Order: sequence, then structure tokens, then C-alpha cells
Amino acid sequence: MKVDVLLGLQWGDEGKGKVVDVLTPNYDVVVRFQGGPNAGHTLEFEGQKYVLRSIPSGIFQGDKLNVIGNGVVLDPALFKAEAESLEASGHPLKERLHISKKAHLILPTHRILDAAYEAAKGKSKVGTTGKGIGPTYTDKVSRNGLRVGDILHNFEEKYLAAKARHEAILKSLNYEYDITELERTWMEGIEYLKQFHLVDSEHEINNLLKAGKSVLCEGAQGTMLDVDFGSYPFVTSSNTICAGACTGLGVAPNKIGEVYGIMKAYCTRVGAGPFPTELFDETGKRIRDLGHEYGAVTGRERRCGWIDLVALKYAIMINGVTQLIMMKSDVLDDFDTIKACVGYKIGGKEIDYFPYDIKEDDIEPIYVEMPGWKTDMTKYTSENEFPEEFNAYIDFLETELETPIKIISIGPDRDQTIVRYTE
Ligand code: IMP
Ligand code: MG
Repeated sequence: MKVDVLLGLQWGDEGKGKVVDVLTPNYDVVVRFQGGPNAGHTLEFEGQKYVLRSIPSGIFQGDKLNVIGNGVVLDPALFKAEAESLEASGHPLKERLHISKKAHLILPTHRILDAAYEAAKGKSKVGTTGKGIGPTYTDKVSRNGLRVGDILHNFEEKYLAAKARHEAILKSLNYEYDITELERTWMEGIEYLKQFHLVDSEHEINNLLKAGKSVLCEGAQGTMLDVDFGSYPFVTSSNTICAGACTGLGVAPNKIGEVYGIMKAYCTRVGAGPFPTELFDETGKRIRDLGHEYGAVTGRERRCGWIDLVALKYAIMINGVTQLIMMKSDVLDDFDTIKACVGYKIGGKEIDYFPYDIKEDDIEPIYVEMPGWKTDMTKYTSENEFPEEFNAYIDFLETELETPIKIISIGPDRDQTIVRYTE
């Protein structure tokens, strides 16, 4: 068997949580391969709303195994809070969740360093989620990190050495902080983590594939936040792209099957950095209000704009997307006109690719305009009911992106999902 990969094609928050939850009935195993509690995957069903940060979205279905892979960074304190709240709502997870011993630990001082580095950057700050993601991956790559498997032997010694190193950096930055409470909950998290199956997940996943089990890899953030191919330096610190599933799980490239690319019918971004189709007017505000575009982790207002086909084509290329999934189509239900960006004008010159150096103030999107469908689609149960204008919009997107849109979401609930091209 091969693994299928689901990932975001924009700047995150495309609605991966909901889609994984819809797709999981088809899979035996759901795994996370990168990122950490900077993610906030929102799921809604049976009138309940859940936000997952580090735990894979397959956790709600009792018969699935969920795995946190080696490419993930884990904060034990936040993990404990998340896991306990799931258990309290009737979703036991100790037997259903395995964690890679090679996943790196986010230390309390990583979170403080995240804040200190952002403060030091002043105007050029990234607008991180403040969860310590960057400093943790930095330590991983510079060979100073602590891994989940380390909690099993001589942990205190390793922890204190890492902490001392971080404290020296914080001192050099003249950054004031109080670690007491953070450290207390973190240590409780470490003890809690010991109750879980800490595994060599690369062996486990490959053995499962050999045994014919189906595996879905759940990406976090989005392609345009990838540390190599995103809008650097305004990116996260992991490989959010399909290749991240290989390094973040120990799955070989020839074991990748379907690549589901997920996008919204429009586009959003949180944090700083270029966003060519951002709308600063009433339309942007309307999209934000109708789409409830506020960060699941930080509560920040998301920046909103029209769909950007230039960035999407790039993302589809980098990931080898085999099928598209379009979320939140219903948010555009009441707009007179829908726009899609098909090129950029930079310094008077038109280009149709995502450039190396993209500055926010110097870029003018080139739009194609289409009539809106002006229909409430949230009650539809089949694509046969789609209005003509909506069909024209998806035909246009499929032609431009040269990839089929196989699933269309028309509302937050599990049921508000239309699957197309069913044989
Ligand atoms: P970090 O991942 O916390 O270091 O943040 C780096 C950038 O990625 C910031 O612009 C964040 O707003 C953005 N980011 C991180 N995680 C997410 C996510 O799950 N959804 C959307 N944006 C994210
Ligand atoms: Mg999110």
C-alpha cells in the first residue's frame, strides 16, 4: 500500500481538519508529519466544535490508529491539555494514539525564545503563533534538540542543559520572562506523555503499509508557509509540502499515492508577509465575517482576499497534487461578482508565476471576474443542484489549475460535503 497525503495549498487554515474527518472512514491510520501546536484544525459535528492542535483528526473514530510522526514538534503541556479535553468529551485516546520517539520536544524556553526573537525583529516580525515552533526546529537542525524518546532516560540532565543554553541566549537578548508556571505545566505534561505508546513510528508505518493498511497523512499549515518554498522569511519552520511526509514519517517517495490539495474558494493568511490578493476594503471584511476568519489558535483576524491561481499552480506543482478539494464555497454564496487572480503586475510588468522576491506593496493582482451564484448552497446534497454560475466557477478553476476538484465543501458540518466524479 501507499500513503495518501492531504495538505493545504494556501497559507494554512484551508479546512484540513474537516476534510480529514470526512476522509478518515476510508483509512485505517491517520498520521501527522510536521508542525506542532501552531496548527489549529477545527472540526464540527453533531453540534460540537473541536480544535485539534497536535493530535491527528482520525481520533474521533474509534477504530483508527493515529500517529504523531517524527517530523512533528510536540509541546507536552499543550498536548496534555488537548488530550485531556478530548478524553473528557468522550474520546479516549491512549490506545488509539502513538507518538514517535523521534518527534522533537518544544521546551518552555523555546516558547519564550519565540517571543524574544519576534520582539527583537521589531517591524519585520513574522507574526508567529508564539508556540516555540521556530526555536524548536532550530535546535533540531543544529543538533541540540530534545526528543520524545529522551524522556525515558536521564531526562532531567538533558533538560537542564538545554534550558541553561536557552537562558544564556535570553539573557543576551535582555529579554524578561517568568518561566515558573510554564515549566510546572510542562513537567506535568512530560509525566503524562509517559502513559502513551512512544514508538519507532517509521517502522510501524512501513509495517502497516506492508500489511495492506491504508494510511492518510494529515498536513498542517499550508504550502505557502513551507520553509523552503513558501513566502520566506514569512513562513513556518517545517516542510509543509508533500515531501515533508517522507521526511516526517520515514515513508519513501515511491510510497506516496494520492495527494489531496486543499484550498478555500477564496484565500486567507494570518501573520505577516506577502499576500498579493489581500482585500483591504468592505469585500475583505465581508469574507472575514461570513467565513468566520479568525485564528483557531491565536484568535487573530485573518487577512482575506480572492483566490490566487498563480500561487495555487505553484503549490500544485511542488506537491504533485492529484486531486483538489475546495472548502468554504458557501462563504461566497451572496457575492455579485467573484474574482480569481491569474497573474501579477510587478513594477508595470506582468508575470504568471510566483516570484522569488515578492513585496507586499509593489504587487498588483490581475483578475478574471465572474458573476456570483447568489444562491444559498448550504442545503444542497448533490452537485446536480449546483447553480450554473457556480459550475462555471469550478470549471474555470479546473481548467486553469489542470487538476480535478473532487470534493466541494458547502458548510462546516460533516454532511455539507459534496463528492464529485464518483464512478
Ligand atoms: P509559527 O509556525 O508559529 O512559527 O508561525 C510562522 C507563520 O506561520 C506565521 O505567519 C503564522 O501565522 C503562520 N502559521 C503557523 N501555523 C499556522 C496555521 O496552522 N495556520 C495558519 N497560519 C499558520
Ligand atoms: Mg488552522
